[in-house]
Amino acid sequence: MLTTLLKQEKTKPTEEKVPLMTHQNRLSNKTAFVTAAGQGIGRASALAMADQGAKVIATDVNEQHLADLMHENIETRTLDVLSETDVYDALNEVKPNVLFNCAGFVHHGTILECTADEWDFAFALNVRAMFITTKAVLPHMLANGSGSIINMSSAVSSIIAAPNRFVYGTSKAAVIGLTKSIAKDFVTQGIRCNAICPGTVESPSWHDRVTALGKELGSYEAALEQFVSRQPMGRVASAVEIANLVVYLASDESSFTTGQTHIIDGGWAG
Ligand SMILES: NC(=O)c1ccc[n+]([C@@H]2O[C@H](COP(=O)([O-])OP(=O)(O)OC[C@H]3O[C@@H](n4cnc5c(N)ncnc54)[C@H](O)[C@@H]3O)[C@@H](O)[C@H]2O)c1
Repeated sequence: MLTTLLKQEKTKPTEEKVPLMTHQNRLSNKTAFVTAAGQGIGRASALAMADQGAKVIATDVNEQHLADLMHENIETRTLDVLSETDVYDALNEVKPNVLFNCAGFVHHGTILECTADEWDFAFALNVRAMFITTKAVLPHMLANGSGSIINMSSAVSSIIAAPNRFVYGTSKAAVIGLTKSIAKDFVTQGIRCNAICPGTVESPSWHDRVTALGKELGSYEAALEQFVSRQPMGRVASAVEIANLVVYLASDESSFTTGQTHIIDGGWAG
């Protein structure tokens, strides 16, 4: 267990080990709207896009998570993606040409532990919210003749299953269907829509999941070993590693790419 912990620490990428792309201003012509930007992948992506010259509207339901998100290109806003009216108001005002739908929630358990209410909540946050944000943003993107929509799915979806990820995997599989459908319908009108499918990524909520599993297994280290041992690279991803993909999909460098599931999982599903 200690070995796993040490390996995780040793191989954990630092910003020096995983530099953001050195080519600068890759997004200087973009306005990016990010949901769940207060922490984890959303935050790293907001910062990475801002570093590349995008004007970023970083939103999150939790005002405190946004409080220290400082960058000259970032404007923060409190937004609950479950509030349809607030989503329409924000997107009608900002009219972004990049939308990163990052908000999502991991429910722990098999089908037997999943109540109907938990099913509804998982689908509301993981799928319905991006249906609404996309409906709200599309008229503006269509009027401009271009736009990139990036949807947060997961390797745990229609790609692979993981234990105790019943409704999470089901809802993230739905994100892939939603993404492909939007990509197909608007491909001739300058709109691209792609899904990101990460393996396990270090983030505050992931640390919470390790802690919760640690209580079941008897120690944090045992839980960490369970998470890390399923990763062929012997470590989980850093949020910056996912943010690099977000920057690429947001930029015109990916202009021939749409309707795809971009698996970024350290070889887990390979
Ligand atoms: N961390 C992982 O291992 C992993 C792997 C694959 C996919 N994902 C997905 O990436 C996304 C981000 O996860 P993370 O682990 O990087 O971050 P996280 O779970 O640590 O943080 C999520 C953020 O979402 C915000 N949020 C929650 N409900 C919201 C709502 N209704 N409206 C707006 N914001 C809300 C929270 O305040 C928080 O700041 C999720 O969709 C998750 O399913 C994560």
